[in-house]
Amino acid sequence: MNLRDYIRDIPDYPKPGIMFFDITPILKSPKALQYAVDGLAERFSGCGASKIVAAEARGFLFGTPLAVKMGIGFAPVRKPGKLPYKNRSVTYDLEYGTDTLCMHEDAIDPGDKVLIIDDLLATGGTAVGMVQLVRETGADIVGSGFVVELGFLDGVKTMQNAGVEPTCLLTID
Ligand code: PRP
Ligand code: MG
Repeated sequence: MNLRDYIRDIPDYPKPGIMFFDITPILKSPKALQYAVDGLAERFSGCGASKIVAAEARGFLFGTPLAVKMGIGFAPVRKPGKLPYKNRSVTYDLEYGTDTLCMHEDAIDPGDKVLIIDDLLATGGTAVGMVQLVRETGADIVGSGFVVELGFLDGVKTMQNAGVEPTCLLTID
């Protein structure tokens, strides 16, 4: 199984000059989806995680089945205005402007061991935002996993600088 065969390159989306890596072919294929979730589960077996943290929307697609497979809980990270209970939030820099991520303040308990999951590691902004949200709770981060990493951006280095080693099933250079 080569996951690259299940990622569709869409030029000039959402803006001219941007290449969008579409993971919906992975979702369409039961074998590829199983392979991606199993691959993450294998890499994190024995890591001691008690909770997965993942960001909407695409992080949910892999984070939730992984939580079921690992037999642990799931804490959703959402964009502002979507979570009904008391929120923690973090605002982080994008290439142009800023973005905000939110999590329920009781989504993670202080003793939790957290595994951060997303579909894609690009600049690392989203992942580092999740790292900041989790650290505010006092919980430990035991790892971070991504289906795809864009090697031509600095996401891996950005995560390492934040003190979390990313694990990626596929690198696109
Ligand atoms: C995409 C992707 C990652 C993030 C990676 O999410 O799903 O979460 O970008 O980019 P970064 O490493 O530069 O932060 P997006 O914000 O497009 O939203 P979506 O998951 O709701 O589609
Ligand atoms: Mg996303």
